[in-house]
Amino acid sequence: MTSPPGNPFESTQPARQYFVGRSREIREMDEYLNNVKAGGATNIYIVGGGGEGKTSFLYKIKETAIEKGLIATIITVSDGMDPDQVIYQLIEGALEDVAKNHGRKEYYEEFQKGLSCAMFKIPGLRAIKERITPKDLERDLESLMQVVTGVGAVGVVLCLDEGQRLKHMNGGALFATVRAAIQALGGGFMIVLAALEDIIPQIAEGYTGIDRFFPNNLPLGPFENDNVAVAAIDKRLEGKPIRFPRFLSEAIVEIAERSPKDIIDICHDIYSEGITSHISEADMDMLRKVVYDRYSTTVSAVLKTLGGLRPSDMSTLRKLLQLGRSGRARDVAALYCRPADDDCLARIEPVVYQELRVLAERGLCLSDITANEEVFHVSSGVIGYILTAELNPQLNGVS
Ligand SMILES: Nc1ncnc2c1ncn2[C@@H]1O[C@H](COP(=O)(O)OP(=O)(O)O)[C@@H](O)[C@H]1O
Ligand SMILES: [Mg+2]
Repeated sequence: MTSPPGNPFESTQPARQYFVGRSREIREMDEYLNNVKAGGATNIYIVGGGGEGKTSFLYKIKETAIEKGLIATIITVSDGMDPDQVIYQLIEGALEDVAKNHGRKEYYEEFQKGLSCAMFKIPGLRAIKERITPKDLERDLESLMQVVTGVGAVGVVLCLDEGQRLKHMNGGALFATVRAAIQALGGGFMIVLAALEDIIPQIAEGYTGIDRFFPNNLPLGPFENDNVAVAAIDKRLEGKPIRFPRFLSEAIVEIAERSPKDIIDICHDIYSEGITSHISEADMDMLRKVVYDRYSTTVSAVLKTLGGLRPSDMSTLRKLLQLGRSGRARDVAALYCRPADDDCLARIEPVVYQELRVLAERGLCLSDITANEEVFHVSSGVIGYILTAELNPQLNGVS
């Protein structure tokens, strides 16, 4: 599907002007940045699943840092990179920011001169493919700090995105070098590493101090609440020709379980559908079509599973949906025994329990045991939506 120009929902793009929420993390980040501004040194580590907003948060850090008068850059680690290339790009990026935000291009241009660069040693070393020693780095970071203070800035924030890709290289040695250099300079630098999973133990191989190098861990997950998640949608629709009513946005947020990327992807398809058919307000029928297209593999699997259920399992599944997609065997049994009667409950509960176990074995629900109580809940937002569409379509608001 080609999207019409101006679709504000592109999940490959960091949030930038559409950034919402994360207020707790922003407060923490603010403190770290103020610390660097005051001449301290802070390193933070951002970890989260795919699409949970790491890159967007790095941009937020960069923008905030620049507002606070710091120099900031983001580099994306790629699989083929060696540690020295990472270092090279970080310094290059910082000088690029000096050029862009302080109008001083000469340092960036000087850095590009390679062997004939007089102010920095690293471009020359790269040109002849020689390794960067901790002393070289210390020297160049010192020169960088001179440039930075020369333009009236107060510190440098160096961000690395896709940090899990450091796994293939000796990330421990890289950070050992960077750390030694920054320590020797005594502050004014902040390293931010964003990574897909908990890679600290793996890149720490051969370097035991890495956990002390990144003592501040900032984990990102789904959006913190439904209001923020709905705001992520509304903000992108400001000034656009299509409106998403609140109940539609809430349904999307529920399907996506507040995952930023999944929300943006579903909205992308609805928006593009809406533009193509010239409507001004998106509706639940469009949502259904988009979910069934986008998650067609899951839809087929769920339909196949439903086809294999006994009528009694199916009936228990309906009741679980009625309970808001989660409940204990006793809660489901109570729906069978109306008006509640203890004999009925005692008889039905074990039967229902077995049926819930069947649903769990088939992947339609999961069971959680908390405080000695087993609670069954539908496996995911997408599966819950499909099940409701198939068994209780009026609950999905589809006409
Ligand atoms: N705080 C946020 N506010 C609004 N949109 C966000 C936010 N965080 C992430 N997104 C959106 O979600 C999608 C995935 O975010 P991204 O930062 O690329 O995640 P990650 O880097 O963790 O894979 C993008 O479309 C991005 O614009
Ligand atoms: Mg990313």
